[in-house]
Amino acid sequence: MRYLQILLLFQTLLLSVLSISSEDEAKIGTFYNEDASTHTNNWAVLVSTSRFWFNYRHMANVLSMYRTVKRLGIPDSQIILMLADDVACNSRNAFPGAVFNNADRGIDLYGENVEVDYRGYEVTVENFIRLLTDRWGPEQPRSKRLLTDENSNIFIYMTGHGGDEFLKFQDAEEIGSHDLADAFEQMYEKKRYNEILFMIDTCQANTMYSKFYSPNILAVGSSELDESSYSHHSDVEIGVAVIDRFTYYNLDFLENVNKNSNKTLQNLFDTYTFENVHSHAGIRTDLFRRNVSNVLLTDFFGSVSKVVVDGVEDDLLSLINFSKR
Ligand SMILES: *[C@@H]1O[C@H](CO)[C@@H](O)[C@H](O)[C@H]1NC(C)=O
Ligand SMILES: *[C@@H]1O[C@H](CO)[C@@H](O)[C@H](O)[C@H]1NC(C)=O
Ligand SMILES: *[C@@H]1O[C@H](CO)[C@@H](O)[C@H](O)[C@H]1NC(C)=O
Repeated sequence: MRYLQILLLFQTLLLSVLSISSEDEAKIGTFYNEDASTHTNNWAVLVSTSRFWFNYRHMANVLSMYRTVKRLGIPDSQIILMLADDVACNSRNAFPGAVFNNADRGIDLYGENVEVDYRGYEVTVENFIRLLTDRWGPEQPRSKRLLTDENSNIFIYMTGHGGDEFLKFQDAEEIGSHDLADAFEQMYEKKRYNEILFMIDTCQANTMYSKFYSPNILAVGSSELDESSYSHHSDVEIGVAVIDRFTYYNLDFLENVNKNSNKTLQNLFDTYTFENVHSHAGIRTDLFRRNVSNVLLTDFFGSVSKVVVDGVEDDLLSLINFSKR
């Protein structure tokens, strides 16, 4: 009799585990902490769209972000890195093969394993949109695809030269704010994300996210309409600016964040002052469900938590408690 009870208990448990849908996951998350994330994996898409030596800082911006998300636990297999130009090997580089984001040249951003997924003339608007929406022929290797699902949190970072509702790719073409908004909507319809954090450092950056209309997207930018974004400082020997201000202050904050940090997005956004950035950084939260004061930075810059498993474990405990009575 007792065995039968235990058997039934396990059957019930098994069924409840198997039947968990994303809606249930959300409920479980809600039950324990209204603002806990329900994602189960993290991805990053990091893009530098400009060419030419004088745009060195855009390479440094994106490689710095790459280094940061890797340090915080996103594996290379879940990072898509797109670099329109390779300043490391430029003949004008006084430090061949190296890229620095600070005149102190403390960290060579190109020194350790850097896995570039799209380089040079592969960095096109078409490839970027195909990447987001996963529209490829069967020949496209898995390593160059964004293999996300409805449980993925995606950090998307872009830097280059932009203007009112566009960002230039390679000086040859541009992506418009509508193109990007529509790509995100396709991603939403195809259940390709749980949440997106979109970050852009370019002139008039905030205009690029003005047309977004899909749920669960949080967007930040370095400058508003009719406003430039500025570089932070130059390196005399390299001869050009090595980092942009908005990216610099993001990195400055993220440097003090580790994998177990309880720092929130609001803590990061608090550093986006005019005094720091020299332009009006923008934060768009209306499409985002959670309160940014409760969203951990590691929900986007780190790797996974396991909310569902915790929920199931607690259910198990309460059932055991129940069966004891
Ligand atoms: C974050 O952790 C620190 C140190 O463990 C603690 O003092 C602080 O109150 C925590 N902050 C939040 C928002 O939980
Ligand atoms: C977000 O959370 C913070 C801190 O808990 C709170 O002060 C603020 O009122 C909340 N904002 C909204 C819109 O609920
Ligand atoms: C199980 O019962 C113990 C003692 O009665 C109680 O402290 C604990 O919170 C219960 N656990 C759950 C998950 O209900």
